[in-house]
Amino acid sequence: MTTTEEPGTETERLRSRIAAELERTRARTVSLTEAVDDGDLMRQHSPLMSPLVWDLAHVGNQEELWLVRDVGGREPVRRDIDDLYDAFKQPRKDRPALPLLPPAEARTYVSTVRDKVYDLLDGIRFTDRPLVADGFAFGMIVQHEQQHDETMLATHQLRSGPAVLDAPPPPEPRARVGGEVLVPAGPFTMGTSTDPWALDNERPAHTVELPAYVIDAAPVTNGRYREFIADGGYDDPRWWSEAGWRHRREAGLTAPLHWRRDGDGWAYRRFGRWSPVRDDEPVVHVCWYEAEAFATWAGRRLPTEAEWEKAARWDPATGRSRRYPWGDEDPTGDHANLGQRHLRPAPVGAYPAGASPLGVHQLIGDVWEWTSTTFRGHPGFTAFPYREYSEVFFGDDYRVLRGGSFGTDRAACRGTFRNWDYPIRRQIFSGFRCARDARDEEAHG
Ligand code: AVJ
Ligand code: FE
Repeated sequence: MTTTEEPGTETERLRSRIAAELERTRARTVSLTEAVDDGDLMRQHSPLMSPLVWDLAHVGNQEELWLVRDVGGREPVRRDIDDLYDAFKQPRKDRPALPLLPPAEARTYVSTVRDKVYDLLDGIRFTDRPLVADGFAFGMIVQHEQQHDETMLATHQLRSGPAVLDAPPPPEPRARVGGEVLVPAGPFTMGTSTDPWALDNERPAHTVELPAYVIDAAPVTNGRYREFIADGGYDDPRWWSEAGWRHRREAGLTAPLHWRRDGDGWAYRRFGRWSPVRDDEPVVHVCWYEAEAFATWAGRRLPTEAEWEKAARWDPATGRSRRYPWGDEDPTGDHANLGQRHLRPAPVGAYPAGASPLGVHQLIGDVWEWTSTTFRGHPGFTAFPYREYSEVFFGDDYRVLRGGSFGTDRAACRGTFRNWDYPIRRQIFSGFRCARDARDEEAHG
């Protein structure tokens, strides 16, 4: 049976939007994997990361599993490689020793899969089946590839050798931003039940009641973080939790990852280039324990995940939660530093158009922001379409990060999007902002 769809119908529009997102995403994957030679693609640049050629074929394998086989009901392309590219069967540290597809074969594989996807997309009907309704499976696969692109970007940052990636610098500050913002007590809607491509852990929408709190108007900067270092913050167990101090000692932490002393100051290495640390940029490459210690030193604390989301989404004029701090419309280059458009966080004040109604800046883009919250399902959570995306990570081991970084694509970032990692991890593009209770402000009106 065939249905004829007129061009311009809703189905047609969704198909072409999906095709455009798939294409845009693949261009990024190709550029990240063409930037280095075959030896560099096969090599492991850090035990924390996969060889880039593993990410590449894994992206294709997930696309084959979900779109070619499941949604399309087509024959497998390469069933023989499923185990090699199963992240649960192969720990990252073991991946370089696997009989991986060499670069040329991996490239052929991902384009064979992609051709089949374009073919099946042509005739697809977006039925009520939850996996295909609103094109969800395609959106999930786009986000999956973009997430691995960010992971590959982090691998590039860990790689030694001369620079191979390039991008223009981010905008300079366009507004004076600093201090704190009071968020009044009251309920807000957290999570979503309507965003068609939201992943399972963002669902469902539910009401959360919060007491008044105060949150930083911008992420913590290198300048402030340097004060913590200069004050002996790394050597004073008073600022660290017990687990944090143990990790600080065992790992020998003295500054953010990729920093080194430079005369009286500091320099950092970014994608193969050294430059002096710039004070007005959000600090990046700190672990959760470092963020926690800084906050304690500063007489503050990390925001909870709910506090972060209320600051990012709650509109006091309507009481509604928005998709982004600036409203419901998709991010542009004026709103936020996303999508590897620039290869570093932008200075504080660079995105006034992206501020929330209450005046909280740079919540989206620049750096992933650590929250104090451990990763759990929202009330009413159901795993969809597979437990291994989120549910198997629920518990006390992971902390939630929010907002996306300069390396996060707009398809994989929104006010409800949740990321998570171990509290010791800092190879990701992680920073933070601080918060505190607002009891005084409340009492004095
Ligand atoms: C959501 C970023 C923690 O990279 O481990 C990629 C995303 N899940 N493939 C990760 C993911 C499966 C995930 N994070
Ligand atoms: Fe994956």
